[in-house]
Amino acid sequence: MKTEGLVKKNILVIPGDGIGPEVTAWGQAALEKIAEAYQHEFHFSSGSMGHVAIEAMGNPLPDETLEMARKSDAILFGAIGHIKYDLDPSLKIRPEQGLLKIRKELGLYANIRPIKLFDELLEASPLKPEILRGADILFFRELTGDVYFGKKERSADGNTASDLMVYSRYEVERIAHKAYQAASTRRKKLCSVDKANVLESSRLWRETVQDISIQYPEVETEHLFVDNAAMQLIHSPRRFDVILTGNLFGDILTDEASQIAGSMGMLASASLGDTIGFYEPIHGSAHDIAGKKMANPIASILSAALMLDLSFSLKKESNSIIQAVSRVLKEGFRTNDIANSETPSHNILRTDEIGAKIVEQI
Ligand code: IPM
Ligand code: MG
Repeated sequence: MKTEGLVKKNILVIPGDGIGPEVTAWGQAALEKIAEAYQHEFHFSSGSMGHVAIEAMGNPLPDETLEMARKSDAILFGAIGHIKYDLDPSLKIRPEQGLLKIRKELGLYANIRPIKLFDELLEASPLKPEILRGADILFFRELTGDVYFGKKERSADGNTASDLMVYSRYEVERIAHKAYQAASTRRKKLCSVDKANVLESSRLWRETVQDISIQYPEVETEHLFVDNAAMQLIHSPRRFDVILTGNLFGDILTDEASQIAGSMGMLASASLGDTIGFYEPIHGSAHDIAGKKMANPIASILSAALMLDLSFSLKKESNSIIQAVSRVLKEGFRTNDIANSETPSHNILRTDEIGAKIVEQI
């Protein structure tokens, strides 16, 4: 029973680029419905970031967005990127710089990506149901270090370039603690992923995780090289509980792991530091379908559920969103990305149709 009464929060919504605004509208609608149903007070404001911010203000992360972010209790973000920059790598001002900067400025070092298949979607994944059934993985991806933030250089003649892959012990320690704490409350298995057979930064990573593991004797620790981990994820996803890894490997492995959950369109993520939480789908801006109302809003809706749980400790409210998603899937409704050849065409819904059904069920 929730008896604490109403919770008041300021939520900054940053819709971003491509399908971002279409899906984020439904993440926000889910939060509004929760506020109404449970009598909380959520105050929403809106900020600009990414290609849209470059177009409007010449800056992928305008100062006023960062200011609003610092003042908020949590942030719901959509997606970032535009085809223009993908086709022209020489452009110096790029949408993704906005996302990287806000992660760094807010100290969002722990990116948590839960990979859990809704039973109703067993057939939506390209993987065999018998391999998938019961898979439940929690990724901890380090988010403010690694090759993403190391020194970047281009030689004077332009023909040689480098990105420094760098980690310091404290950066590994703080995310390792978060991952171990989560593992202790789950199936008590932690797999740390690195490339310690080749990279010095990975050898530091492994040494540090070995040292931290001693403090969590109840958790069984395993170390895998990233190439092997990539293979095992598809071969036997059920063997994993918590996976702890660096920024680059985590970026790649979580896109791969999204197939375990049926589609990129299903996966939410939380980026946490010591204060504000930042919630976003793991999918990108998907310009090929932007504006067509085909995008799957579930990742944004589930990001809202993660916010309620992790930033506001509203577990019951969070679960009611997850159950609403599950009910709508059980009724047979799908977006294009999670439909298969057996889905009747009248059950394949547009973004607003499935979003409204889910919100109605909350
Ligand atoms: C992600 C994205 C970002 C990343 C891009 C948009 C910079 O792929 O959040 O996984 O690489 O971290
Ligand atoms: Mg990614």
